[in-house]
Parts: sequence; C-alpha cells; structure tokens
Amino acid sequence: MLRGKTIVLGISGGIAAYKAAALCSKLKQEGADVRVIMTEAAAKFIAPLTLQTLSRHQVYLDTFDERDPGVVSHIDLADSADLVVVAPATANIIAKMAGGLADDMLSTTLLATTAPVLVAPAMNVHMYAHPAVERNMALLAERGVRFIEPGTGQLACGYVGKGRLAEPEEIVLAVRSWFTQSAELAGRKIVVTAGGTVERLDPVRYLTNDSSGKMGFAVAEAAALRGADVTLIAARTSDAPPEGVRLVRVESAEQMLQAVLAEYEDADVVVKAAAVADYRPVARSVNKIKKSGERLVLELERTADILQTLGERKTHQVLVGFAAETERLEHYAMDKLQRKNCDFLVANDVSREGAGFNVDTNIVNIYGPQGLIETLPLMRKREAADRLLTLVAAKLAEKERGE
Ligand code: PMT
Repeated sequence: MLRGKTIVLGISGGIAAYKAAALCSKLKQEGADVRVIMTEAAAKFIAPLTLQTLSRHQVYLDTFDERDPGVVSHIDLADSADLVVVAPATANIIAKMAGGLADDMLSTTLLATTAPVLVAPAMNVHMYAHPAVERNMALLAERGVRFIEPGTGQLACGYVGKGRLAEPEEIVLAVRSWFTQSAELAGRKIVVTAGGTVERLDPVRYLTNDSSGKMGFAVAEAAALRGADVTLIAARTSDAPPEGVRLVRVESAEQMLQAVLAEYEDADVVVKAAAVADYRPVARSVNKIKKSGERLVLELERTADILQTLGERKTHQVLVGFAAETERLEHYAMDKLQRKNCDFLVANDVSREGAGFNVDTNIVNIYGPQGLIETLPLMRKREAADRLLTLVAAKLAEKERGE
C-alpha cells in the first residue's frame, strides 16, 4: 500500500516516543521508505539506534550534523517527503509549528516542507485541553495539517483522560487513508464558486452580501488535496484563496454565470458555494449618482439563476448546490435541490451561531434527491468540505460503474 512513498517520521520528546518504534516498523512493513527525525528530548526516551535499525537509515537529530556535503539535510528531507508524520507530537512541537519556529532538525524540516503533514498529539490531559494548545491546533488545521486524535485512558503522568498517543495501527490506517484520499479525485475536474457577487449601481457603489469565500475556499482546497484539478471562480471575498487551484476572479452574477459556463462541459463536479445576488440594479450609472431629493428608489431586476441553468444543462456532471436559510431548512433545501436538479444540496441555517457567513465553522445538513444524507454538527468549514467531498467522490465512482 505504501510502496514507493517516502514518509518522514518526526518524533518529539514524550514518553509515547517508545511507540514510534512500532509505528516505524509497521510503515516499513507496508513498503514505505521511512526517514526518521528525532528531537533531542525524544532521544532521551528512546535510542536513535532503535529507529535507525528499524528504518535502515541514519536518524537525524542535529541540524548541523551534515554528513553528505552534496545536500542540505533538512531541505533534502523536506523535499523528499510524500508525507510527514509527527508522532508523538508534544505541545511544544505543535506550538513551534503554529508559530513557524525552526530551532532544531524537526521544526526546521517541518517549516521547509511542502508535503502534507499528519500530527498525532500525545500529552497530559490538561495540556491537551489548554486553550493555547487548542488554538495552535486550530491554526494548523486551518493550514491543512491533519490530526490523529489522541486516545482516552490511563496516561503515563498518572491522570486518566484524553492525551494518549493513538495506537501505531491507527496511525498507519490514517496514513493509508491519506494516500487513498489524496488520489481519490485525481484526474477529476472540479469547479467551485465562492464569495459574494457584486452588483454595481455606479462606479463606487454596489450591492453585495456578507460572504467571505471561506466555505468555497475550503471546498476548493480539500478537492485539490484529493488530487482534483480545481478551478475556483471567486467573486468578492475577504480571505486569501487556497494554493494549488486555478483562480478566476469575477464580480457580478452575470460574470460568474459566464465563467462557470465556460468550464461546465469539461467539469466532472460543480460546487456552488457562492452567495449569488438574486437581483441587480436595472441600470448602472456611468458616473457617480448625485445626491438629490429625500428619497432614492432603486429598481432591481432578477439575475440569472446560475445553479438552475447548470441543472437544466446537466449531462454527466455532479452538481452541488448550497442553501443559506434562516427557517424551514429541510423544506427549502429539498425545494432548491429538486428545482435546480442538484445531486447534493448543502443547507446551512445562517441564523445559528458558528454557521454560515464569514466564520471559520459551519453547521450543515447535506441532502440528496431521496432526502437527508448527513447532519454535520458545528465543525470547521475545512472539515465539512472534506465530508462533502467524500460523498461527491462516492457519487462519481457510482456513476463510473454505471449505477
Ligand atoms: O463565504 P462564507 O462567508 O464562508 O459563507 C458561506 C455561505 C453561507 C455563503 C455558503 O455556505 C452558502 O450557503 N452559499 C450559498 C448562499 C446562497 O446564495 O444561497 P441561496 O439559497 O440564495 O442560493 C441557493 C443556491 O443557488 C446556491 O448554491 C447559490 O450559489 C445558487 N444561486 C443563487 C442565486 C443565483 N442567482 N444563482 C445561483 O447559482
């Protein structure tokens, strides 16, 4: 399963470091080439010779111990990795990663790598629940780092609670599923829309909405990490778009319609997370509208419904709509799904705390033609995006089998 993959295994200094030997051995048995980096503290818990023997490579401990003059070790290791696994990850290495510190071989390599990173934390229960650790992990998760949750039970420090390193078998499973997932959408063309459209009244004034682009960006990033060829069509947004996608900037609903239609025929999936204006000013003034009188009446006209247009023209594509609602979620979601001929509809009740516009989290229900498929409680938009893409990938596979 892991043949041909290079995994850099970072071991930081906690008692669970002893489990890293079993992890290294299991990764080797799966066929991976494992390169081990240990912190100075890790080497106090387990002998580097153990890891050297299991990995069949020298173990890296010191950034300045350069044994091959032909390469700079931490850059070479960082570049060679298909995946970096940090297990066990102490609160200290997590904080260094979050802060971008590079003061030893492991933190320097982590800063230099562009490979995906899986982190398996292990620490005392109170340390794990500390707001600083929680905040650091949330920041890393936002940057795409994945976490393997620690287990609950008897901890080496004497406490009973959450903080025990996940078992080596679980970490190997997470590694395997990462590689499976990362190829899941390879060769698939996915179009994602994000942000709020801008409907101009004059050169300096416009109608728009509160969409930050975060939800659409999360879907685009998650799809790219699963190997898809992603085109992100973004209107007005406040966040920075993710890397590794083709970005098309638009402003109005009409421009978004044209941009999506240009991609539609070749697309396997379209995800419409953008908040598109339903109405636009009938006339756009060339010059700034001058103040006159006590009242100004704006005349608005309907914009094209992009999702509905896509639904009408659908041939092979998997079509995912969103619905921002404040009441009767299921009723409106199913109505939109059917009218717009969607395969999935993601409904968020934007009146709920932590859901909808301009927050990093969301609370959504995902519907299919038969009704509710999944209810996702409050979670980061990036995680919700992953859950959605798992359904989309299954749908694509189903279509391929002709079901
Ligand atoms: O960007 P964030 O700050 O992260 O916020 C995320 C979000 C709340 C914008 C997102 O989760 C969301 O719900 N997006 C859809 C918002 C919306 O326009 O909902 P709607 O119920 O009005 O539209 C239903 C669907 O039709 C949407 O997929 C929308 O993109 C599409 N639509 C709507 C109008 C229109 N003229 N053309 C469309 O394609």
